[in-house]
Amino acid sequence: MARVLPFLAALLLALASHAAAGRGLLEACRPLTAAAVVAYNDAKGSVFDFACFEPAPVEKSCGGIASGLCIFEKGISCYYKAKPCKPTDTQVLALFAEWNAALATLNASKVAALYAPTAVLLPTVSNKVRNTRAEIENYFVSFLKRKPQSVIDSIAGSSPNIRFLAPDVAINSGTYVFALTNAETGVVSNIHARFTYVYKKYGDYWLIEDHHSSVMPEPV
Ligand SMILES: *[C@@H]1O[C@H](CO)[C@@H](O)[C@H](O)[C@H]1NC(C)=O
Repeated sequence: MARVLPFLAALLLALASHAAAGRGLLEACRPLTAAAVVAYNDAKGSVFDFACFEPAPVEKSCGGIASGLCIFEKGISCYYKAKPCKPTDTQVLALFAEWNAALATLNASKVAALYAPTAVLLPTVSNKVRNTRAEIENYFVSFLKRKPQSVIDSIAGSSPNIRFLAPDVAINSGTYVFALTNAETGVVSNIHARFTYVYKKYGDYWLIEDHHSSVMPEPV
């Protein structure tokens, strides 16, 4: 007994100081702020919503964790767990803006990278169904020669139409207009088309899972 007691005392002391150190780390992890989420989204190209985090920082190294937000500050990694959370309409429209901005780079591989590996594209000006990343990129190689830029029609009660099938699946359908530039003459003409985008969340990123774009069946 006499030999066990000092050992127990030392163990209790060690546990107590360990707990104190743990508390210190937790206190060092400040509560997540909306500004921190905005900064994180800007840095990572993600579209996290501030409302989509459990307010439970964990004081451990979290750089490799994919499903949440890891802020490294003053030598401490603070992890905030992402919970299933549907994006806002604004975020779904931001995905369209991102796609349109990728068109503006005239880089087909950048545009194709916004499509999921399993995505299907029924494109505006090609009959071919594109169901691989390579075929999608191939379509944009020729389409981008026309410097396309598009704007979603904002018609009250008609376009766009954003719906959520699950926290990680969003759909937007409506009509848009493409401005296309003739490579030889430089003349810009408009194409009116109908679209459906199905977006699916892969890890932190929303990708296009399905995109149907077809020219209007009647004159506009
Ligand atoms: C096109 O985009 C890809 C992917 O972002 C990049 O690796 C490549 O360097 C870009 N090409 C040009 C010509 O900018």
